[in-house]
Amino acid sequence: MAQLHVSTHPLVRHKLTLLRDVRTEPKKFRELIREIAILLCYEATLDLALEETSVITPMGQAVGHQLKEKIGLVPVLRAGLGMVEGIWEMMPAAEVWHIGLSRDERTLKPIEYYRKLPVSPTVDVCLILDPMLATGGSAAKTVHILKEWGAKRVKYVGIIAAPEGVAHFTSQHPDVPIYIGAIDERLNDIGFIVPGLGDAGDRQFGTG
Ligand code: PRP
Repeated sequence: MAQLHVSTHPLVRHKLTLLRDVRTEPKKFRELIREIAILLCYEATLDLALEETSVITPMGQAVGHQLKEKIGLVPVLRAGLGMVEGIWEMMPAAEVWHIGLSRDERTLKPIEYYRKLPVSPTVDVCLILDPMLATGGSAAKTVHILKEWGAKRVKYVGIIAAPEGVAHFTSQHPDVPIYIGAIDERLNDIGFIVPGLGDAGDRQFGTG
């Protein structure tokens, strides 16, 4: 499990508690998703490659750095959408590619309904954004789609995971690191994370 990074950041823990709260209404819920995503993205991008450059300051010349790698943000529709904007503001040059998956309520298997990727990869690192890793099926399928497309480096950034989902995901894609806000107790018999936060898509979009 060397590839599993569970955040211990105090701000993440604080905000995650507010996010879980059943009384948190959609506007606040969206704000929290955005803020937690930025904090987790900070952790997920600590190893991005840099190249040295120089910059002229009002006082002279300084050594500087710029990102060497092109980043692709891959939100999984719908719930991943709320994680994009804040991260994108931190990395405005990132490309955003959408993948739409919906979990079949009976089988709990992901069904793909949308894919917007260029013919061949245009980015060096893909960050998959999806708040919930429950059975892990959606996350594993997204990585499969990206690898098939030719992505070389993929990272998963999520907010809450179930241990069962982490185990499934790492068995399918041991090379893909997971950056997550919390690992909860378990999945229930209808595939929801317990205690979790309910349905992240419904709570963001007010459709619950
Ligand atoms: C949720 C969530 C993940 C998936 C996780 O999406 O956002 O994509 O389920 O479940 P899994 O790990 O068992 O695959 P959902 O299918 O409910 O769609 P939505 O985002 O449109 O609400």
